[in-house]
Formats: sequence, structure tokens, C-alpha cells
Amino acid sequence: MSTEGRYTITAALPYTNGPIHIGHLAGVYVPADIYSRYLRITGNDVAFICGSDEHGAAIPMRAKKEGVSPQVIIDKYHTIIKKSFGDFGISFDNYSRTSAPIHHETASVFFKKLYDDGKFIEETSEQLYDPEADQFLADRFVIGTCPKCNHEEAYGDQCEKCGSSLNATDLINPKSTISGAEPILKQTKHWFLPLDQYEDFLKEWVLEGHKKDWKTNVYGQIKSWIDDGLRPRAVTRDLDWGIPVPVDGAEGKVLYVWFDAPIGYISSTKEWAEREGKDWEPYWKDKNTKLVHFIGKDNIVFHCIIFPSMLKAEGSYILPENVPANEFLNLEGNKLSTSKNWAVWLHEYLEDFPNQQDVLRYALTANAPETKDNDFTWKDFQARNNNELVAIFGNFINRVVVLTNKYYDGVVPKPSTFSDVDKQTLAELKAYPAVISSSIDRYRFREASQELLNVARLGNKYLADEEPWKLIKTDEERTKTIMYVALQIASALATLSEPFLPFTSTKLKSILCHSTLDLETTWNEINSRDILLPANHKIGKAELLFSKIEDTEIQKQLDKLEATKKANEAENKTVTPQKDSATFEDFTKMDIRVGTIIEAEKMPKAKKLLVLKVDTGLDTRTIVSGIAEHFSPEEIIGKKVTVLVNLAPRKLRGVESEGMILMTETPHGKLVFLNPDEGNVNPGAVIS
Ligand code: MF3
Ligand code: ZN
Repeated sequence: MSTEGRYTITAALPYTNGPIHIGHLAGVYVPADIYSRYLRITGNDVAFICGSDEHGAAIPMRAKKEGVSPQVIIDKYHTIIKKSFGDFGISFDNYSRTSAPIHHETASVFFKKLYDDGKFIEETSEQLYDPEADQFLADRFVIGTCPKCNHEEAYGDQCEKCGSSLNATDLINPKSTISGAEPILKQTKHWFLPLDQYEDFLKEWVLEGHKKDWKTNVYGQIKSWIDDGLRPRAVTRDLDWGIPVPVDGAEGKVLYVWFDAPIGYISSTKEWAEREGKDWEPYWKDKNTKLVHFIGKDNIVFHCIIFPSMLKAEGSYILPENVPANEFLNLEGNKLSTSKNWAVWLHEYLEDFPNQQDVLRYALTANAPETKDNDFTWKDFQARNNNELVAIFGNFINRVVVLTNKYYDGVVPKPSTFSDVDKQTLAELKAYPAVISSSIDRYRFREASQELLNVARLGNKYLADEEPWKLIKTDEERTKTIMYVALQIASALATLSEPFLPFTSTKLKSILCHSTLDLETTWNEINSRDILLPANHKIGKAELLFSKIEDTEIQKQLDKLEATKKANEAENKTVTPQKDSATFEDFTKMDIRVGTIIEAEKMPKAKKLLVLKVDTGLDTRTIVSGIAEHFSPEEIIGKKVTVLVNLAPRKLRGVESEGMILMTETPHGKLVFLNPDEGNVNPGAVIS
């Protein structure tokens, strides 16, 4: 168990091009928060640092789509994201943003130092350029066909369909998203960090130094990058959104977002230190400080290769002690996606499940994608709540608090002799802080969350075996001892749950009146103190910690996702291209009139066809129409429709059809009539 160390804990700076969803929470922010809270309550000096990443190339794109300036976008999402973090109890010591002056300053100075020290190479190379919009194109601004899966709307940096990471120059039929023009290659000068020169450093530091203690998924990715051979990496871009390159001859160029963003951790630490009257430097430069980056797996190369090489090049910074990156979380079997709205947005979750932040925190931790991609399902969420939080944790606490109030008016009873079972139970309880610590120290948060639940299981089993509700009638002394032991478990739970379930922990501490204790037991002391809640301490009334989530609430969420799926499908339906042009004469050849359906019946043995009798104003004629899967005969009798009356007759299944009913289709593929039902139109009226 680590105590009295100094930690700088960072959580990936989210892009402000959309709100945050459960994938972000599960992969990065909940584990980082558990870790930070745990370190604080075990006596460490912690700076838990984050902020918004506001220079991503997707931000000006989103701005363009919404017809506003990038500033409007970043302000909007910075506010939403920051609020979500607060709402979910993510206990950042500072949440900054990369548009802040302190960050522009810090990143510029960092770049300048590397520049002055000759750490960059300058190179003129060919980049994609939009000849119509007259600007260079970031990879994100180019779309085209994915060379791997033929998806027609792959981005220049990545195909969202198959997940391949791409170079914009790999795309087939590339197009600029700014003007639609085909990009050309044009020469431009940039500064590169020669990663190849850091290979030996990286091999020694990570591949040898952290073979044992880093997660295998992280280590494996780094190794394969290094084995593939590292190449110089451009740290500047031709864009007008970002931090201007602070050297002469760099007009119109900005720092590459992945150069400036991780420096955001440093600027955010500075901002915090300034506010708190502290010195920021020990958090980044003292060899005894442990720097830990919490990220998702798509960020590994940046945090384990590029940023460390930048820090090494600068020379005065420490390197990360660990980078416990997680794999991805899926939602109901599909990849989470901001652009496809395939997500559970945190702000929407809270509308549907107010005050149930801990339930989501718990479900995401218990099912965290620590070693492989995992799937979030609403059924699992419900089961975690109902079968674990309600049935085990909540149930134990409720029994203890209700019985203590009922038997002793809420006063912790004085125990008499401890039985072997009591002693063993208390000994087991005392072992838990070390057990949970050991999981957290190894970044195994799902394991840790299950050990926490085991504390409640221990309590439930103890009560079920000892049955104080029966003994109260025959053995009051024994009952007191049992309730005393159970209360110690409840008190330990209040402390041990804090990193995982901060809202519940606060509520439980208040039910148990921890604040009126002479000495509240800390995490580290649970093992050494014999008494957590002393006899005669008065506790409060029972309050439900968790409540059952009903099937209807889950169904509502599933319906929401189903609607998203439908909407996406509809959006993906391509608009039929325009046909060859028709002359006015061509058009006037068509005799289109209003008609009334006066009879309708199914064509025998044909799934799609209805045989209609239509009053066209000219006559009553038979028209065979392929609408049987969309309408029943009964519902269309009497309907007014538009009819092409001079279509040459043809036989369908032996029935002569003399005309065609004009139809159209909804985005969901349902056929609908053009609507002459409006107004008092008579059959035979000409459509022109
Ligand atoms: N914004 C990036 C993402 O969401 C993460 C940036 S992490 C930082 O993938 F280190 F660059 F800050
Ligand atoms: Zn693809």
C-alpha cells in the first residue's frame, strides 16, 4: 500500500467536439478517479489533472457543419463536458482547457526550447492541398474510399467502418470536405521530431524498464511500434486552428494538436498550482513523483512514444511511471460513435436516472474493458444494480441500520464475548483494505470493485448465519455482539467504497454519523484499529442506498437505441440520382390525374400486388399496384390517389393493368401516396 508519495495523475484531455459518453467514462475517467481518490485517502499528495483538448481538427469541421465559429463549439462542449465530470464525481484537482493563455504560453515555450536546442529537423514535403479553398488539408479534412474495406466515407486519418488507421494519400477518390475538390500535392515546410533518434532511449526505458509492470496490451502495442521502426514525426501543421508555431518563417502554421495537447497536462498543473499557492515543478520534475497517464488504447503511441520523447528532448521532466491504457467499450454490440450518436451520453443518463451516478460508475467498473474490448448492455447494467448493489450492498446496510434502530434506538450496542465466527469475520474484514489496495495498485479496478462487494457479502453471510432477528427473542447479549460486529463491517464499507462509489460513501457515512466520531477510521487504519464504530455511538435512520431498476426503464433505453439505429439507416439511404433531363414535350406526354380507389383486393398468390378499381374521372379501370406489403385493401378504399392514366396497358399475372398509381417512400422505406386528399379535388383533375 503506497502512502505519502507524490503523484501526478493525468486523464486524457477530451476533444471538445461533442459531449462525453460511457466509453470515455469507463476507459479513462472512472479508473483515473478511483485511483486518485484511493491515493488521496491513503495519505498521498495527488495532483489529478485534466482539461479540454480544443485544437483537434474535428473541431473546425464540426463548426463548419453547424455554421458557427470553432470558438462557439469549444465553449459549448467544454462547458457540457466539465459539468458531466462534476456530476459524476470525477475529482479532478484541475480541469483546464488548451485554449487557455497559460497553455498557449507553456506549449509555445516548450516548442521554442526544443527548436533552440536543435531537437527538430526541418523538412519540405508534399502534403494534400485543396486548390479551390486554397489551403492545406489535415487528414481529417479528406474523405474517400477506404482501401481496406471500400467504405466510401473514410476519413484521411481513419476509416470509421473498419477501424483501420490511414494516411490521407491512401484514400481512393479522395475529396476535400471543404470544397469537394480533389486534393493535389503541394510542397510545404514542417518541423519534425526525429523519433528514430529516440529508439534506444525508448527501448531501454519501456521495453526493458517496464516489461514487468506495464499492462501487456500497452506493452505489446509499444513494442510493435518500435519493432516496425520509428520515423520522424511532423509536429507542425498548415492550419488556421491551433497554437501558432512560435518561430520566424512559420506564418500560417500551428503546432500539431498531438504536440500541444499532452503539454496541456503541464499547463493544467501550473494553473492549479497557481490557484492553490503551490509550486508546480515538483509534480513534473522531481524524480520521486510518480506520473501516471490514464488513456484509451487509441492514445497509446502518443503517451508512450511521442510525449515521452518530447519530455526526454526537453530534458528537465520526469517520465510516466505507468500508462494503464484500457481497451474499448462497445454499446449493445456496436462500436460507440459520437458521429453516429451510438452512445449513452452522460447528461442524458442523468435525466433518466437522476442521482444514480454511482450505479453507472459501478457497472462500468465491474465490466471495465481492462484487458479486452467489452460490451456495455443495459441488461448487464440492470443486473449489476439489482443483483449486486441493491441485493448485496444495499441490503446489508439496510438490515444493519434498521435493526440497530429497532433494537437499540440507533445506539451501537456494547459487545460481550466474541465467538470464533465473530473473530474470524473481523479478521477477514481487516484484511480487505490490503486486498483492495493490491488490486488498485496493479490497476485492476474491476477486480477491486468485486473485492469491495465481497466486504458486503461477508456482512450478509454473517447476518444470515447468525440470525440476530431470531436471537433477539432468546439471547439479548449475543444479539448485541452480532450487531456490533455487523456495524463494524458497515463502517468499513463506508470508507472502502469511497473511491468507487463516492456518492454512496458520503451517504453511508452520514447514515452512520461518521462525522460525530472522535476519530474516523481511515483506509489504512481499518487493519490496525480494533474499533471502527464504538459502543454508544449513535447512528442515524435507514435510507435506501440503491433502488431496483425496473424492466420498463431498461426497455426505454433499448427503444432509444433502436430509434437511433433507424435514424442512421434512414440517413444512410442515398438519394437517387437525378434522371436524364426531359423536355417540356416529354412531360406533357404524361397524362397524370387524380383518381379514387373504389375497390381493392389482393392478387392471389402474389405477395406484393393489389388489384384496384380506380375511378379516373374518365372511366373506372383496373390498375395492378405493388403496394400490398404496405397497405391492406380495406384501408385504401375511398382514397384519392394520383394516377398516370396513359401508361400503355400491360399484363401482370394475367390481369391487365391500365395505368399506374404514383407513390413515394418514407426514409424508413414505407410507401406512401402522393396526397391529393388535401382540398376538394375531383377525380379526373389533371396534374401538371
Ligand atoms: N483528445 C484526445 C482524444 O480524445 C486525447 C488527448 S490526450 C493528451 O483522443 F494527452 F493529448 F492530452
Ligand atoms: Zn475501412
